[in-house]
Amino acid sequence: MANVLVIYDSRTGNTEKMADQVAEGVRQVDGASVVLMNVDKAKLDDLVAADAIVLGSPTYYGNMSGKMKELLDKTYNIHGKLKGKVGGAFTSSGGTACGAETALLAMMQAMLVHGMIVQGRNDDKHYGAAAIEAPDEEEVKHCQELGNMVASLAVALEH
Ligand SMILES: Cc1cc2nc3c(=O)[nH]c(=O)nc-3n(C[C@H](O)[C@H](O)[C@H](O)COP(=O)(O)O)c2cc1C
Repeated sequence: MANVLVIYDSRTGNTEKMADQVAEGVRQVDGASVVLMNVDKAKLDDLVAADAIVLGSPTYYGNMSGKMKELLDKTYNIHGKLKGKVGGAFTSSGGTACGAETALLAMMQAMLVHGMIVQGRNDDKHYGAAAIEAPDEEEVKHCQELGNMVASLAVALEH
């Protein structure tokens, strides 16, 4: 069983709604299970135990939130233990061309520094799922597809 950990930060609920849909996408994959966690509750052991980690943050000044960055900075203490895990990212922003992609890339950059495996996407939302405020129908689909893609890759890597 591939364990997918979805960690999100959300002050006004938009990124949390996305997280629910990413988790739903994971559940659609045979051989994958999901744990959904607010960033306030996330412990380093949770990250070490997971086969795949998906991070979701509101876009704050074109970056991830301070809480998400604080968690990532703490992963210095487990550096080396996340190598080979699958990663992905999602973000909710206030508008288009307002920093969503840089926020996604910031989270993915930390994953790459850990030696994690981050799959891009050729046909849509190249860097992960993004929504303007709360996810609309199409953005919900992208969140589910992100969860599905990350979980499918984690399951494939188990074999
Ligand atoms: C401190 C702060 C900084 C923000 N910076 C940006 C930004 O750079 N670009 C943007 O599009 N939205 C920005 N926003 C808006 C949030 O990204 C947006 O409202 C998001 O949907 C909030 O997600 P949440 O409901 O999960 O907290 C900012 C909001 C706050 C509170």
